[in-house]
Amino acid sequence: MAEKTLILIKPDAVKVGNTGKILSIYEASGLKIVALRMLVMTRELAAKHYEEHIGKTFYSRLVDFMTSGPLAAAVLEGETAVAKARAVNGATDPLQAEAGTIRKLFAEDKTHNAVHASDSVKNAEREISIFFSEAEIFDI
Ligand code: CDP
Ligand code: MG
Repeated sequence: MAEKTLILIKPDAVKVGNTGKILSIYEASGLKIVALRMLVMTRELAAKHYEEHIGKTFYSRLVDFMTSGPLAAAVLEGETAVAKARAVNGATDPLQAEAGTIRKLFAEDKTHNAVHASDSVKNAEREISIFFSEAEIFDI
């Protein structure tokens, strides 16, 4: 069944000009871009998006990073899109990411790791609604 998932190209990857390359990797994996925008996250938006991590040791480091510059947000659609986008991203820590994954190719470290992807269909729905209205998501 076709699913939708949210991906973010984080400020580290946008800053060095890897946005297009990363979007191409998702497209080459068979996922379709059905919504796309750039924005700077506020701390409030970061708290909404990363609510499960509030209070963890890395939380303030994560929010400082995610609010440090523009990021790109996209909704990707396809068969098993949630699992596929996470597989293409690779492990959170680039040292553990498999060869050919986005994080292996572009991440600096465990915090500055280039991309985000939703971890379940339920979280994908929640996260998509944070970044996009219904009218901004296209039936392509
Ligand atoms: O992004 P992913 O789902 O792979 O990992 P997470 O465990 O949900 O963590 C969210 C984000 O927090 C990561 O992508 C990292 O940017 C950051 N993080 C960190 O800075 N230090 C950690 N020990 C774990 C996560
Ligand atoms: Mg996560």
